Amino acid sequence: MSSAASAVQTPKTFAPRIFSGIQPSGGLTLGNYLGALKRFVEKQDEGIETIYCLVDLHAITVWQDPKVLRQQTREAAAGFIAAGIDPKRSILFNQSQVSAHAELGWIFNCVARMGWMSRMTQWKDKTAGKNAEAASLGLFAYPALMAADILAYHATMVPVGEDQRQHLELTRDIAIKFNNDYDVDFFPVVEPVIEGVATRVMSLRDGTKKMSKSDPSDQTRINLTDDADTIAAKIRKAKTDPKPLPDSIDGLKDRPEARNLVNIYAALAGHSVDQVIRDFAGAQFGTFKPALADLAVATLSPITAEMSRLMADAAEIDRILADGADRADALAQPILEQVFDITGMIRSRRKPSTAFQG
Ligand code: AMP
Ligand code: TRP
Repeated sequence: MSSAASAVQTPKTFAPRIFSGIQPSGGLTLGNYLGALKRFVEKQDEGIETIYCLVDLHAITVWQDPKVLRQQTREAAAGFIAAGIDPKRSILFNQSQVSAHAELGWIFNCVARMGWMSRMTQWKDKTAGKNAEAASLGLFAYPALMAADILAYHATMVPVGEDQRQHLELTRDIAIKFNNDYDVDFFPVVEPVIEGVATRVMSLRDGTKKMSKSDPSDQTRINLTDDADTIAAKIRKAKTDPKPLPDSIDGLKDRPEARNLVNIYAALAGHSVDQVIRDFAGAQFGTFKPALADLAVATLSPITAEMSRLMADAAEIDRILADGADRADALAQPILEQVFDITGMIRSRRKPSTAFQG
């Protein structure tokens, strides 16, 4: 067995490795913070190898102003660091700096089936009532690029919010089909990590809609760049119903807005929903909302302040992203070379040590 062969891993021996990504297509929201960032930090602090990516190639599936995209990518990087990602312990970078993503993404476009992609609910939602013919091909293909993001690192665990569950199932299908088509045991079958009370933070104006950075109304979301007064005002004006808070979780059924605010409180405080219900049973929103606003401001203000401090030095952010991209590239490149071998591409320009011998 050559040394390259012994380096090839099978699913049974994959080391735990976490990968996740966020689109820099708008500012980070409280949904991103509770559903993703806060949990990214927890995973990093558990000592698992963590790779976090600002997926700029995904962002341009919908047109982005180049200046704004650059700014938002730096701002997202600042948000990650301000929330507790340590760019020395985690790898933090932007996707376009590591070419393996686009290259493996193409290979996966050839593995994924049109039927699979057409069934993606996010694609259906994003084109519902609009002219799907006018959507970019990239928007349709984007879950295959997402699979490439993850599998280029042989990542085994992917922390995301609930909205990404179907894309992770597709990632598993792509890994399995690739392994079968080429009769190899090469890609791991990833585990979604969708946990906690805030896997789906809802809009402040409609408890049935996800809080989203792309919602046209800024009142629907809390941004990590909002100041204390703005946060308090948005929570004060959040849609609710006239009833007081119930004394059991069951009482939140059919009250999506009330449930959302209680979930947000629980996630911010690090309490269970049960605990929050016990503390606020019978309280009116006139009491609960100011308590929630205080908690949100106390949690987010230090992050906002640190973000703006970091944003004052764009060159330093770019340096951190370059360092992360170098380290990401070093992990992805040997895996990509093996994929090219497996699929029959001649790579005679490459250094010999990375060939797949499986
Ligand atoms: P995106 O902003 O769509 O790139 O999402 C980045 C990450 O944040 C993904 O893991 C999403 O699942 C998560 N996320 C986005 N919005 C929410 C939300 N409203 N609630 C919970 N998680 C969210
Ligand atoms: N599709 C994800 C979103 O919109 C972002 C993303 C891209 C991602 N690549 C990823 C998340 C890989 C996890 C892993 O939220």
